[in-house]
Amino acid sequence: MPSGRKRTRKDKSSDATGASRQRTDGADGGGGAAAAATATKGGADADEAEGPSSSTPLLGLLTRCFTEVDGYRIAREVRAKQRRAGVFLEGITYGEVDIGDFARVLQTVGPARGETFVDVGSGTGKAVLCAAACHPLRLARGIEILPELHAAASEALGVARAEKTAGGATLGAALADGGTEVELHCGDAFAQDEPWTAWAATADVVFATTTCFTDELHAKFGAAVAEMRVGSRLIVTTQALTSDAFVLLGEGRLRCAKGSLAYFAYRKVREGGGGAAAAAAAAASAD
Ligand SMILES: C[S@@+](CC[C@H](N)C(=O)[O-])C[C@H]1O[C@@H](n2cnc3c(N)ncnc32)[C@H](O)[C@@H]1O
Repeated sequence: MPSGRKRTRKDKSSDATGASRQRTDGADGGGGAAAAATATKGGADADEAEGPSSSTPLLGLLTRCFTEVDGYRIAREVRAKQRRAGVFLEGITYGEVDIGDFARVLQTVGPARGETFVDVGSGTGKAVLCAAACHPLRLARGIEILPELHAAASEALGVARAEKTAGGATLGAALADGGTEVELHCGDAFAQDEPWTAWAATADVVFATTTCFTDELHAKFGAAVAEMRVGSRLIVTTQALTSDAFVLLGEGRLRCAKGSLAYFAYRKVREGGGGAAAAAAAAASAD
């Protein structure tokens, strides 16, 4: 758990893959992107920390890039295949953000020009592409362990890069010419000696749907966030942090493609912060 987690509200489970700890309340889920799909990426001379404004339908366009991508179906099929092979994995539960609502929540942590965003467990890449499309980041990166979801994310990125608006401005321009590099990695976010291994120490904004993390994943995640730099920001779901290395910037509900999750947004204000989670990670690795 990230620095000792506490469940702050009893959410009702509605996860498509049926695993144990994906929790959503289902009340306001799905279809919300259009209403919130009004973000734009700042131009080359835009101010620092600019974010989604109400001036372009960029997020509507981005949402449409995912029309043919059904992450829930992919995850369900992968899980069924694993079960047939006698594999029962915890913590590989699927759910994905509503792009428009994620843009709103991301503003809470004010991604600034030249910063790096990472989604730890990025699924079909909605949060990554949303961050890249809305903010003049240097790098937006996703790390996803399931090859099938990673492949779907790569496909969506390709579609997004080719997509045009009626007015000629391109989503592709926002994603590429806008200066943001998008990296989609396939593998375990907590693996050593991978190109993404230092994600925590190098990111300015970290997002993780920690809702479905197992205790082991929480411990690894807690150890990783202890490496985050002072001034970097972190958004997690369902369980709030208890570490005093982070201050709360905002909390509320994050709409997902199905249902919604509690979210907590933080800024790191001092070094470390692994606390109990780092100790748990050490204990887990000693087992
Ligand atoms: C709840 S989904 C979130 C997807 C995406 N972040 C979003 O909100 O749209 C969590 C994802 O984390 C992935 N995952 C779980 N453990 C992981 C690990 N150790 N490394 C990388 N990805 C992982 C799962 O396969 C799943 O796609």
